[in-house]
Amino acid sequence: MEVLGIDIGGSGIKGAIVNIKTGEIISERHRIKTPEPATPLAVAETIKSMTDFFNWKGVVGCGFPTIISKGTCKAHGNLHADWVGVNAEDLFAKTTGLDFTIINDADAAGLAEINFGAGKDVKGLVIMVTIGTGIGSGAFFNGQLLPNFELGRLFYLDGNIIEKFASDATRKREDLSFKKWGKRFNKFLKHINTILSPDLIILGGGVVEKFDKFKAKIKVKTPILVAKSQNNAGIIGAALATTTR
Ligand code: BGC
Repeated sequence: MEVLGIDIGGSGIKGAIVNIKTGEIISERHRIKTPEPATPLAVAETIKSMTDFFNWKGVVGCGFPTIISKGTCKAHGNLHADWVGVNAEDLFAKTTGLDFTIINDADAAGLAEINFGAGKDVKGLVIMVTIGTGIGSGAFFNGQLLPNFELGRLFYLDGNIIEKFASDATRKREDLSFKKWGKRFNKFLKHINTILSPDLIILGGGVVEKFDKFKAKIKVKTPILVAKSQNNAGIIGAALATTTR
């Protein structure tokens, strides 16, 4: 079965058609810049451009970069504050006339990896970490999603949330070398290791394509794997989420 998967991020909105039986992307990947400011109306219009681009008439699965409960945003992450309390499933359905399933973006990426990638058949606690504008996290125990883990929102020593210290956006903004940023990211992973003792950590997001440049700085005992579907995990998992409703 084919589903349109959309991954909404702080800087880009990416979509592709996914075969949810095999977890493969079967179309081109289309990217549109996230509107600024990323208000509900502006994002909904971008979503409509995405469904129009694919001339899509079927169901849509969508990863969203904040806490999602039954389609409603409980926070706004790195998007506009007006998202809090908005039911994104209803909003996008109204704008496009299509049936939407929305889940947290990192939970979506984790679903792809648990079903088809680095986390397949792994027992125990698997943590998916997506590195981008923010730091997203998806937790799975024996393959079962525990929704809305927000590990990027843990507080770091300076009183800011840890994603402000160690995200990929911070690496770019502060023009950090991979060595320097890798050390920061390692601090995040060490903390996760201390408080959760995961059996496996999977890393996703565009920066993992350059894992070779920072892997020497990652010194946690937990096994670390790069997402098999790399930066497409969010799109694939979003499509898969339509089957979990
Ligand atoms: C949000 C998470 C999201 C992550 C990655 C964070 O700012 O709190 O919900 O998964 O960014 O987009």
